[in-house]
Amino acid sequence: MVPKYSSFASSGPSARNCRVEVLLDEPLGTISPNIYGHFTENLGGVVYDGIWVGEKSSIPNVNGIRRELVEQMRKIKAPVIRFPGGCFADSYDWRDGIGPADKRPRRTNFWEQVEPPNSPPIHKYDPNQFGTNEFVHFCKLIGSQPYLAANLRSLPAEEFYRWVEYCNSPAGSTTLAEMRAASGNTEPFQVRFWGVGNESWGCGGNFTAQEYAVEFRRFTTWVPSFGQELSFIASGPNDDSWDWTRGFLEEIVRKGAGQLRSIYGLALHYYAWNLSRGRTHDWNAGKGDALKFDVADWYELLRQGEVMESLITGHWQIMGEIDREHQIKLVVDEWGPWYRPGSEMTPGDILEQTPTLRDAVFSGMTLDIFNQHPEKIAMANCAQLINCLNSLYLAHEDKFCVTPVGHVFDMYAAHQGGQSLRAVFSAPSVHYQRDANPASFAGLTGSASLHDKVLVLTAVNPHVSEACETEIGIPGATIKSATATVLTSSDIHAHNSFEQRDVIVPQTRTVETKGHVLPYRFPPASVTKLVVNLQ
Ligand code: AHR
Repeated sequence: MVPKYSSFASSGPSARNCRVEVLLDEPLGTISPNIYGHFTENLGGVVYDGIWVGEKSSIPNVNGIRRELVEQMRKIKAPVIRFPGGCFADSYDWRDGIGPADKRPRRTNFWEQVEPPNSPPIHKYDPNQFGTNEFVHFCKLIGSQPYLAANLRSLPAEEFYRWVEYCNSPAGSTTLAEMRAASGNTEPFQVRFWGVGNESWGCGGNFTAQEYAVEFRRFTTWVPSFGQELSFIASGPNDDSWDWTRGFLEEIVRKGAGQLRSIYGLALHYYAWNLSRGRTHDWNAGKGDALKFDVADWYELLRQGEVMESLITGHWQIMGEIDREHQIKLVVDEWGPWYRPGSEMTPGDILEQTPTLRDAVFSGMTLDIFNQHPEKIAMANCAQLINCLNSLYLAHEDKFCVTPVGHVFDMYAAHQGGQSLRAVFSAPSVHYQRDANPASFAGLTGSASLHDKVLVLTAVNPHVSEACETEIGIPGATIKSATATVLTSSDIHAHNSFEQRDVIVPQTRTVETKGHVLPYRFPPASVTKLVVNLQ
């Protein structure tokens, strides 16, 4: 284990001179609240234990849904939730999850073959107690929109239409509307967002981009809408698979450019997983540990985080070659770090890992990148909400905690719906040793948004030991007052647990202002939100 790093006492660590310039007259577009979306797959402990505890449980719940989770998600203004997968989606028959709970079938979960031996049976054999009704109810409790991922690999297109009909057909209109009403939901669910397959290049059918485009056209032609706008999200590229983006769109427009109108978003998936410092590209061998890492591992992960920027601009450019008006937006519906097994807070939970301050900085950096591309990104969904990968929350039975990633979502919620502004962050690069070779990346990154006369500026200082002594200039504005909310720790491995829930929590304080300039010291290894009231 590496030593701890002292941090945020202002007289403490050495500092680099940095500057931030927020350009009020260079608006970039409105930040879609849906950039702050979530992903809940029927995988491991996400649904059963994480979200669904059951109506008869002694764990506080709202109609079977974990109450503490609902309360936390209301706090972060969660705008949209994707369900039921992931890879699970292309094995799921939505009909299994409707009707009286005691009549629903038990099925082998898609992930059963890779579940660890100590995982509970409910993770391997899906009892279907949490289906469409329960998911939509969960969304309603929070004020989120549902985003359903349809099965393109193992169900016919007709079943997709029927699922839309079950959700959206008007009260009393069809047999499926009556089945919905029998579950206490007379009024339509009005589901707008529909994923059409997931990772169709892999677990979702192993298609070529061209084959998938043909399937996508077939699935989305003449889907009954029931007066509800339907926004179809196509299975897009895995990280830098430029050929998928190009191949898919070229095939789509072979039937004419008008076909582009049927696509709302192209889903991009990007996981930061390779901490081998260039030694291997093997999916298992390349992964690092969530909790045991050194300074180089910290920087390696964040350097991988930076890649998101080039993925967005790269795919956007290719999309623009075919979709010249940019009708189609990017939907980054899976993102986050992915470590090897070993840090699960609940042993037996497949793909669960314990997020630390490193993941909070990664997440802040990623959300800042999204904020800077409001015209390109319509939605993003962190993978995943609870008990899986980059979780905002960890839960088991009656135990619950908010991870550092959850705190970042709470802080960054202030950007939702704001006018993104161009902000220039100038800081000396971070240099580190990548084994024998020198490596570097940006020393301070962030984003800014305007909400009437309130400016929200978020930033991450990735340097483990040096602060950023910064002048923040907002030309043309006079600053009335400002507050800073900071998430940091003297230990870069800091994380919360069921026993110690508040090891790392954000702290808020007032910041002294100087007219047109805000002097601010960003602590090392930190995520900061500044809320600046302008005159
Ligand atoms: O998030 C876990 C898995 O990662 C999802 O099921 C799949 O879409 C991706 O490969």
